[in-house]
Amino acid sequence: MNEYAPIGIFDSGFGGLTVLKEIAAVLPQYDYLYLGDNARAPYGSRSFETVYHYTLEGVKALFERNCHLVILACNTASAKALRTIQQKDLPHLAPQKRVLGVIRPTAELIGKYSRTNHIGILGTSGTVNSESYLVEIEKIFPNVVVTQEACPLWVPLIENNEHLSKGADYFIEKHVQQLMRKDSAIDTIILACTHYPIIATRIKQFLPPHVQLIAQGPIVSTSLVDYLQRHPELETKCSQQGSRVFLTTDLADTFSKSGALFFGEAIHAQTVVIDHL
Ligand code: DGL
Repeated sequence: MNEYAPIGIFDSGFGGLTVLKEIAAVLPQYDYLYLGDNARAPYGSRSFETVYHYTLEGVKALFERNCHLVILACNTASAKALRTIQQKDLPHLAPQKRVLGVIRPTAELIGKYSRTNHIGILGTSGTVNSESYLVEIEKIFPNVVVTQEACPLWVPLIENNEHLSKGADYFIEKHVQQLMRKDSAIDTIILACTHYPIIATRIKQFLPPHVQLIAQGPIVSTSLVDYLQRHPELETKCSQQGSRVFLTTDLADTFSKSGALFFGEAIHAQTVVIDHL
């Protein structure tokens, strides 16, 4: 039997579970090790240095647990930490290992979804201020007009299980309307935060029916299938016993309970400490 070498999935908290759910649906054979840094979530309004520092600790924790491939299933971490980790840390930390993000695969496909070529981005302040989507989409679809809206309270509401409350609806409506007011030609909106699929139906109620919401799970999973085919040297290192293990830096019981909503099935999380690395 191969040694246990799961694919690592990292997020600030619960959001990455929406991505893992889609990945595990199309690639069920692999082992997955999920790490949510709930103790320090949300990342969205933290500085570049802090997000980089926290994300690097998460990646190291997953490397220590034998992951050869780690996916940052978090836009904020992808925007603020991925490039530095890939260019500065990986070469001396683990030159054979790989860390991938969720922004590039989304940007590569998104132009194909829009008929008007006007795309909206809903994300955390960190993701929006990084302008990563503007830069990445421009490279691939230079004719597409991209308009952003930061929604700083959405992740805290979701992490605190308040996303179905009336109070949450107020903030959801506010940002959806602000985005559409900035550009009424938008016909496609990226849920550019992996937490947001959990409130997709709440977002839709404030949008004209012709506007489509795109979640990243299906995009990232399609891109991962392609990546593993193109990188057999890495793919053969990923063990295939079909296991899913969930780690959180905060309370395991809370993670198991709330995480099940995001993952769509029961999970049993364990608490880990990662900030000593
Ligand atoms: N799921 C993360 C993202 O995709 C949320 C970031 C946060 O913790 O604020 O951006």
